[in-house]
Amino acid sequence: MKNHKTIVLSNQEISPGYFRMRILAPEYNRLAKPGQFVMFRVQRSLLPLLRRPFGIFRAGFMPADCDTMPPKEFIEIIYKVVGSGTEIMQGLHYGDPIELLGPLGAGFDLSLTGGDSIMVGGGIGLVPLYMLAESIADPSRAEVLIGGRTRDDVITVTEFERLGVKTFVSTEDGSLGDEGLVTRVLESRLEKKPGARVFACGPMPMIRAVEKICRSRGVQLQVSLEELMACGVGACLGCVVKGEGHTNDNPSYLCTCKVGPVFHAGDLAWEDTVSADDCECGADR
Ligand SMILES: Cc1cc2nc3c(=O)[nH]c(=O)nc-3n(C[C@H](O)[C@H](O)[C@H](O)COP(=O)(O)OP(=O)(O)OC[C@H]3O[C@@H](n4cnc5c(N)ncnc54)[C@H](O)[C@@H]3O)c2cc1C
Ligand code: FES
Repeated sequence: MKNHKTIVLSNQEISPGYFRMRILAPEYNRLAKPGQFVMFRVQRSLLPLLRRPFGIFRAGFMPADCDTMPPKEFIEIIYKVVGSGTEIMQGLHYGDPIELLGPLGAGFDLSLTGGDSIMVGGGIGLVPLYMLAESIADPSRAEVLIGGRTRDDVITVTEFERLGVKTFVSTEDGSLGDEGLVTRVLESRLEKKPGARVFACGPMPMIRAVEKICRSRGVQLQVSLEELMACGVGACLGCVVKGEGHTNDNPSYLCTCKVGPVFHAGDLAWEDTVSADDCECGADR
């Protein structure tokens, strides 16, 4: 993990309120693992004070295009504009200086990607699933279920399709794909593939519903949690969640930024809520 002072290569709106930013990121092509994230800070600006966490959508390599243009390693992040930090980010252009701390956290356990895999992404939760899909040896046995409130929340479908992964789109208002919740699609896909492993990222209500569905069927599940984070490196304890077996007498807390953001569902406490502070963060994202 390193702090890189680097620059923005491009920053484009791909759907209303959703931006895709390409960032010069030496070494990430080699180091970044599916499910990891970066802490992002705008240089030359005091605000926002804190870095902001974003999942790594893709790590890549632009070959040299002439003698004077060296090859460039980059990462892409995709973000939804929700507050002060992302509002500043949407105004960034080619060459603007930024800082990246990362790659951070533990990603997906790739030893479980053999056989049938079902990835479930709600809204911006789709982001960490792309590198996971890229790493699946037999994409014809992988499916991605993409859910959003409206068609504007459904992003990067064609890119998953290009990997050879079967995609299922659903929206709550029926403006794209099937009408209804992505969790309903999960139930029907698990009828067809009861032995599949499930990988999920999205708002907490979706994650909880996915966990219930998988637990009731004995399906192995990994979840990527998007808790609020201040430091991203295990120093502030602002991102803790309850671990499996947690009680008031015998507390067990896990740092999402260090131990996660990806967890095996069985390592977390689910009875009431996963979040340590009962926050519904992500519910409206
Ligand atoms: C590991 C990880 C990966 C993430 N990956 C992505 C990603 O790929 N794309 C993306 O758009 N966002 C992602 N997020 C969420 C992202 O970090 C926040 O949306 C961002 O920090 C908001 O910053 P802001 O200054 O614009 O908003 P703020 O002004 O800080 O907050 C605006 C609103 O967004 C809510 N919010 C802030 N952070 C979060 C969060 N972590 N989860 C849910 N709600 C939040 C706040 O409660 C508030 O209501 C990720 C978060 C984590 C922890
Ligand atoms: S964000 Fe500070 S400990 Fe995780």
